[in-house]
Amino acid sequence: MKKRILTTGGAGYIGSHTTVELLKAGYSVVILDNFENSDRDRVARLPLIAGTADVRLVEGDVRDAQLVADVLKHHKIDAVMHFAGKKAVSESVADPLLYYHDNITGAVSVLSAMRDIGCNKLIFSSSATVYGNTNHLPTPETVPPSVSNPYGRTKLIIEEIIDDTAASLSNFQALSLRYFNPVGAHSSGFIGECPRGVPNNLFPYIAQAAAGIRDYVQIHGGDYETSDGTGSRDYIHVVDLARGHVAAVEHLLSASTNPTPHRKVNLGTGQGHTVLQVLQAFSKACGFQIPYRIGPRRAGDVAASLADPSLGLALFHWKPMLGLEQMCQDHWHFQKRERNKPGSGVRMPLCAHETASNHLVSNETHPLTAGSRDVPN
Ligand code: WQD
Repeated sequence: MKKRILTTGGAGYIGSHTTVELLKAGYSVVILDNFENSDRDRVARLPLIAGTADVRLVEGDVRDAQLVADVLKHHKIDAVMHFAGKKAVSESVADPLLYYHDNITGAVSVLSAMRDIGCNKLIFSSSATVYGNTNHLPTPETVPPSVSNPYGRTKLIIEEIIDDTAASLSNFQALSLRYFNPVGAHSSGFIGECPRGVPNNLFPYIAQAAAGIRDYVQIHGGDYETSDGTGSRDYIHVVDLARGHVAAVEHLLSASTNPTPHRKVNLGTGQGHTVLQVLQAFSKACGFQIPYRIGPRRAGDVAASLADPSLGLALFHWKPMLGLEQMCQDHWHFQKRERNKPGSGVRMPLCAHETASNHLVSNETHPLTAGSRDVPN
């Protein structure tokens, strides 16, 4: 019997790539998403990429605990991957209460529903932002958190809520995955990162500069103590990150009992790259030099962040395989497709679900089944 995974925020950047890898690994997937920061067209592409349509969509809000409980019960969910939440550091500084309300309410809602229904396996989308400006590089999970912004603080608070929840329930098991810098896109070019408005993050900004949407890349700071003065980060291909989630949930589902009911695990490569090195790699991927200017540092930035990825390897035998060149090639391929995308996307038909405000899409009604001519090889 196939194990079924609920991905909250499963239509988002990380969630959609993880849904594809779950489907390819033989899982059935239910996506719960309110499309606040994602689009329906992306969901319709997932069966095309994965070659299987065993994915269902429930359109709704993760902060509605009753809805989450309904979905857990109706679909007999074996494990939950909780991606849904706001993730922009600068926005969290401008409006902290929005982040505390949305991110923490969403997590408490998911945990309450899991407790009530008896679903006891959780993967939480955490972030390396919890380490703040640490000098302990590469950074293992044992480094004490030191958050410096409301977004990072919501991630840390949710990890602590999961600690307490796991301690209060007899067989609850969780992994909080601390992402370093996810970048890139699926090699098909069907899904990738498409931020709304001006991108905050480096990769989408570079991609848009390469596409002529931005005039040049403004490099935030050229006087850091790094090899070339620009900030250094641990970039990880989003497909490697997604495969890390599959390895993590397999670990959770196979472990009968776990002495440590909640563990935090880094998802990074252990290799750092500076902004100038990324620009050079991206220029090589697109075949021309991307224009840039070096300006003042950005408030809140750290000079360098770098993962110690050894626990993920030890716990669930996961090792990132895709390098910076592939990250740039795949991101650029996606950006070019996005620029040329026709106005209308593929839409997934929706059918009624028990609760009036939500919808389910069963395999039978999906127009793009695994056997259709459109499924990529
Ligand atoms: C990377 C480097 C910038 C943009 C963010 C989130 C963090 C996490 C990962 C979710 C830095 C430089 C950037 C630009 C630049 N997300 N830069 N020009 O800040 O490391 O982390 O993404 O968990 O929460 O904060 O990523 O891509 O913004 O910056 O020079 O236009 O690129 O200074 O050195 P960051 P980033």
